[in-house]
Amino acid sequence: MEVVGEDGVVTSIGLGVEFVDAVLERSVRTGLDRIEQALREAVVSDDDFVADVARYLIDAGGKRFRPLVTALAAHFGDPERPEVTTSAVVVELTHLATLYHDDVMDEATVRRGTPSANSRWDNTVAILTGDFLFSRASDLLADLGPYAVRLQARTFGRLVTGQIRETVGPRDGADPIDHYLAVLADKTGSLIATAAEFGAHFAGADPRVIDQLRVYGEQIGVAFQLSDDILDIASETVQSGKTPGTDLREGVPTLPVLYALRSTEPATERLRALVSHPLVDDAEHAEALDLLRSSAALDEARATLAAYADRARATLADLPDVPARSALEALTDIVIARTG
Ligand code: IPE
Ligand code: IPE
Ligand code: MG
Ligand code: MG
Repeated sequence: MEVVGEDGVVTSIGLGVEFVDAVLERSVRTGLDRIEQALREAVVSDDDFVADVARYLIDAGGKRFRPLVTALAAHFGDPERPEVTTSAVVVELTHLATLYHDDVMDEATVRRGTPSANSRWDNTVAILTGDFLFSRASDLLADLGPYAVRLQARTFGRLVTGQIRETVGPRDGADPIDHYLAVLADKTGSLIATAAEFGAHFAGADPRVIDQLRVYGEQIGVAFQLSDDILDIASETVQSGKTPGTDLREGVPTLPVLYALRSTEPATERLRALVSHPLVDDAEHAEALDLLRSSAALDEARATLAAYADRARATLADLPDVPARSALEALTDIVIARTG
């Protein structure tokens, strides 16, 4: 699904999922348009500067993956209910705010193919704009009632805990790979699980369906973050809209790196030596990226990604056989394919 913005830039919405069912496609497209409009309305401010910075990353693009998950999950009930749109905006605003903050923490300079807010302005502006977006999400949550407020609060608690655990690293004696996968479930899976739950809940879906979709969201969320980690190594900026190798530079050991560190192959000795510390030296950084791109560790990470995507697909098996189910199945393949 492609959307042409005012400036003529084509954004591939929802990872470019192709719909088999034309009625579903039209309905999802309409739903995403509604969400987009409500998202822009949510960030208006009397202060021109605040409004500009808050709109900055929305205008820059993005895949709107979480709104797509909400919109599809809503098709297990009545997708036209207004709370579906509001809850999708809450989730996307939360995601957006974490991007403003994440780029400060990761010292990232490029986001959505444009200078990150921290580099376009500075850290203070980026952090406070993230907080402003959280405030707007809270405002909308008030309209959705205590169920949504509580779910969002718990989701946000998990997300932040995941970020903290990523920063602190595993405890002595803990398996670094188990630790890492648990971090991903918290920092990324939690919000995508909630995107799915909100869509199904506010569309009035069956409670059993809501539960299953929540599990689906969490699994595909971890798969999605794993694909992002793989792209950080394997992609060019043009594809990801970010600077490749940011995780390596910051010394964030993502799954491919953890698999490399676990390897005992003599051939990986140099790679292991390089990735054992943050790679601030340009030549070492380039060398490590190069070695990782052709490593068995990268293939191993792809296999783990496929396993999570398969698990997500399997959670759909008991759901009613509506066209949205096929679209959610297709999404699991797309998350794998985008790293190819
Ligand atoms: C980036 O999320 C951070 C991750 C959780 C991987 P997205 O890849 O969904 O970012 P946008 O919204 O498309 O920019
Ligand atoms: C993104 O994490 C932030 C959250 C998931 C909360 P990353 O640091 O891994 O994502 P990118 O690569 O910068 O988008
Ligand atoms: Mg980052
Ligand atoms: Mg990060």
